[in-house]
Amino acid sequence: MKFNALFSKEKLGDLSLPHRIVMAPLTRSRSSQPGDIPNDMNVEYYKQCSTAALIITEATQISPQGKGYAFTPGIHSKAQIQGWKKITDKVHNENGRIFMQLWHVGRVSHSSLQRGNAIPVAPSAIAVDEGQAFTYEGMKDFETPRALELNELPDIVEQYRLAAINAKQAGFDGVEIHAANGYLLDQFLKDGTNKRDDIYGGSIENRIRLVMEVIKVITDVWGGSRVGIRISPTGTFNSMSESKPQELYNHLVEKLNQFNLAYLHVVEDFANAPVNGFNFNVLRKKFNGAYMANGSYTAETAERSLKNKLSDFVAFGVPFIANPDLPKRLRLGAELNQADPTTFYGGDAKGYID
Ligand code: PHB
Repeated sequence: MKFNALFSKEKLGDLSLPHRIVMAPLTRSRSSQPGDIPNDMNVEYYKQCSTAALIITEATQISPQGKGYAFTPGIHSKAQIQGWKKITDKVHNENGRIFMQLWHVGRVSHSSLQRGNAIPVAPSAIAVDEGQAFTYEGMKDFETPRALELNELPDIVEQYRLAAINAKQAGFDGVEIHAANGYLLDQFLKDGTNKRDDIYGGSIENRIRLVMEVIKVITDVWGGSRVGIRISPTGTFNSMSESKPQELYNHLVEKLNQFNLAYLHVVEDFANAPVNGFNFNVLRKKFNGAYMANGSYTAETAERSLKNKLSDFVAFGVPFIANPDLPKRLRLGAELNQADPTTFYGGDAKGYID
């Protein structure tokens, strides 16, 4: 077989995975409205992908406040939990495994998506200065967010805790904490967006505080072996910046080890952001769980990464969109379909389950 490493078994937390090809979280914006509820078309979509070693769901809002894009699903209402239960049942019937990605977008939202047209929240009142918000009335300019008050942060942690409980009720095998790509937790981590002068801002220790509190409550619900975290140390998507990424993420990973998490999911490349000498392998060596690499990997580069012990799993995003049976295709050396970007976000079955 051509890809021996890619198709070798490995443990992830207390799960045994049949190979190393993980389905990365992909926003597809096709939940039922009103209510951000997973539907039968979504069931079929995840079913089709169930030969992935692990499916990580599309980013899913932990609360109404955590929503930032039209048509994305949530995990904070009964109807949403019931909708997701159909998905997890179907994936399990197909012998698959599925984690839910827990998402609070922070400033990457718009008042028209918020309850009572509230202004989106963030560590500091600094607006996203690239792109636009995807609302039900089309694309709109980002607004300047409201800086969260110190006494509001326990409620943010509580939103994560309740979502983790709901994900368990919905039959997931575990959860992934989304601390990447410029969303709320990333906004707290990085110094371009976190200008707070309280215990959640300033020093690295302070900037990782919210993430640590969130992990604590989520691992209390799930146990560390069913929890992963996704980070993007070099990411600039959503106008992010960090002055000392290596220091920040080395420290974060050292602190993560106390929770014995299943995996560290690292976005190594997203929208071609410059890496500027960042050493991802330092994170891998420091971390006591599995290292999941993500970002523009092909079967060949993934195989090399695994062989060279640079990663334990590789998460593929776009290739899964047009090739839901991706592991089989790679195993057979079959040709891959090219994905159609016009069908990525929103719409119907076209480019989704056909
Ligand atoms: C997106 O909807 O564009 C999106 C969502 C979550 C991510 C990255 C991008 O982590």
